[in-house]
Amino acid sequence: MKIVKTISRMQSLSDEARRQGRPIGFVPTMGALHDGHRALIRTCRRENKLCVTSIFVNPLQFGPDEDFARYPRPEKKDVLLAKKEKVDIIFYPSVKEMVPTGFLTTIDVTTITAGLCGRFRPGHFRGVTTVVGKLLNIVQPHRLYLGQKDAQQCAVIRQMIRDMAFPVHVRIIPTVRESDGLALSSRNKYLSREQRREAVWLYRSLQAARRYIGQGHRQSREVKRFMRRLLRENTKGRVEYIACVDPKTMQAVTHIQKGTLIAMAVQIGPARLIDNIIVRS
Ligand code: PAJ
Repeated sequence: MKIVKTISRMQSLSDEARRQGRPIGFVPTMGALHDGHRALIRTCRRENKLCVTSIFVNPLQFGPDEDFARYPRPEKKDVLLAKKEKVDIIFYPSVKEMVPTGFLTTIDVTTITAGLCGRFRPGHFRGVTTVVGKLLNIVQPHRLYLGQKDAQQCAVIRQMIRDMAFPVHVRIIPTVRESDGLALSSRNKYLSREQRREAVWLYRSLQAARRYIGQGHRQSREVKRFMRRLLRENTKGRVEYIACVDPKTMQAVTHIQKGTLIAMAVQIGPARLIDNIIVRS
């Protein structure tokens, strides 16, 4: 496994793979790798000749009051995990390499970034698309692997790729969960034992919503109220949003149908947690 720190070296390795006709798969991450990342890497490994993972805690996507400084950076552990999963190349640039002094360009996807997480994290998706766009130009992958856990991020990156004609195919991988249903996240580390017990109510409320919808309750307003009540009764968390939306446009729907995305963000103690499901019928 190669650990590549510079843009020019990464680009020349990708050029070479492309010249040899070897399909490149790419898994962008911010490190603190867990089984969610592992699922993306495994699929990438299986579907491509060259499997590239990036580890970059991207300052552009954190707000001034967010957790950029304390975001976990277990460098040695991440390298070991990547090696074990047979990643071919870790692209591991410094902030200076990716966002040097004098960096002036942004990629901004409008409209679908306005609601949900975008409403509570102004500038977040601009930071994501700017860095992912740059990473795509560096790694030049044939396939890009993203996790369904970040449903709005998937929609926004897909939109950018379509609008900007990046020559890459997007693959979305289902959310990997703990045995009790909590979606794996690098931010779960921030939770105390009691907060960890409460955190499972994100997924529980989504599952309960699925059953409730199955019983014929298809008004978004009613389902959201039902979920809020469950969270209020079982956690001390603060609900940031619960949204029933079209998964491509992120526009709210009043009537829930097959394919509707139900997404949520809840602040539990120091951790801002998100989760979502797609309504199946
Ligand atoms: P990060 O939070 O490290 O996540 C990297 C990728 O792993 C994302 O595509 C995310 O959706 C996926 N992922 C995280 N937890 C998952 C889980 N439990 N199951 C399945 N997939 C999961 O998302 C980012 O980093 C950044 O915004 C990034 C895209 C790297 C741009 O900086």
